[in-house]
Amino acid sequence: MKKLLALVIALCLVLGAASAFADGLLKIGYVQVGHESDWRMANTQNYFDVFTKDAGFELELIDCDNDHALQLAKVREFVQKDFDYIVIDPIQTAGWDDVLKEVQEAGIPCIIADRSVDASPDLYTTAVGTDMTAEGETAGKWLAEYLGGKEAKILVIEGSTGSSAAIGRSEGFNKVAAEHKEWTIIDSQDGDFTQNGGQQVMESFIKTYGEDGFDVVVCHNDNEAYGAMDAMDAAGIKYGVDGKIIISFDATHEGLQRTLDGKILCNVECNPIQAVIVMNVIKALQAGETVEKFTLVPDEGFCAPGIESKIVTVMSDEVLAGRKY
Ligand code: AHR
Repeated sequence: MKKLLALVIALCLVLGAASAFADGLLKIGYVQVGHESDWRMANTQNYFDVFTKDAGFELELIDCDNDHALQLAKVREFVQKDFDYIVIDPIQTAGWDDVLKEVQEAGIPCIIADRSVDASPDLYTTAVGTDMTAEGETAGKWLAEYLGGKEAKILVIEGSTGSSAAIGRSEGFNKVAAEHKEWTIIDSQDGDFTQNGGQQVMESFIKTYGEDGFDVVVCHNDNEAYGAMDAMDAAGIKYGVDGKIIISFDATHEGLQRTLDGKILCNVECNPIQAVIVMNVIKALQAGETVEKFTLVPDEGFCAPGIESKIVTVMSDEVLAGRKY
């Protein structure tokens, strides 16, 4: 009887192990920044759409709500649970060295996605993302083309302080601004990539500088631009083709609709559809192939109809129709 029981237990263990193994799914842990913007929601949805069980993955995506400490804790949890791959979309560039070393020591491939870290590339497997500095430069070059040498007083509503998205966009835009002595960046404040943040910063700008104190508002994402518009609407300030110049980043569906409507004059894309690229990197690594240290997600800029541009694409119904997120 005892022998039979032992046999049954052994059989159960083998079958249990076999079924866990047989599901064959790759466990992917993704520490997402949060849910601060339409862009972010599109990015999250894109991961759920791509990393499905049918495609061979078990995805655990954690919304870290812009909490860097939580991101670190969740990465450590993925390490403890021995995930197959860890994908990090870093809230901030700083403070990653220790945890990246721990992931590396555990032998788990680590992919930095969307935003970047201020750490040695030796500490992670590969990175996938857009070029945020180039995005800022595109916005600056478009403004130079549009203004054609005219003076401009510029306000900036930045993305979350310390994020590579905000750092890169500021760096790129400021580089172009430095070449234009006729421009003055009069103020630059953190709007945290949210509509509410954009509105609050714009309200305080209006209070401080008044309607005549500025010509251009550069918003680091579409949601901040919507908030800035709300604040200007409330103050009776005109924007768009016959008012203040609004520049935005992301080029989400609604952002491009507002560009098509002539409210946002220039909108520089940051493509949130990155999951397939990350999946292809993982497939390549699974196949034992060497992958590039960085895979660029390409993006482009758009301007409102009626504006001629050699820098960005003029918005049209066709462009909008192709933009689902
Ligand atoms: O990292 C990408 C940026 O983060 C997007 O511009 C913004 O909308 C987001 O929240």
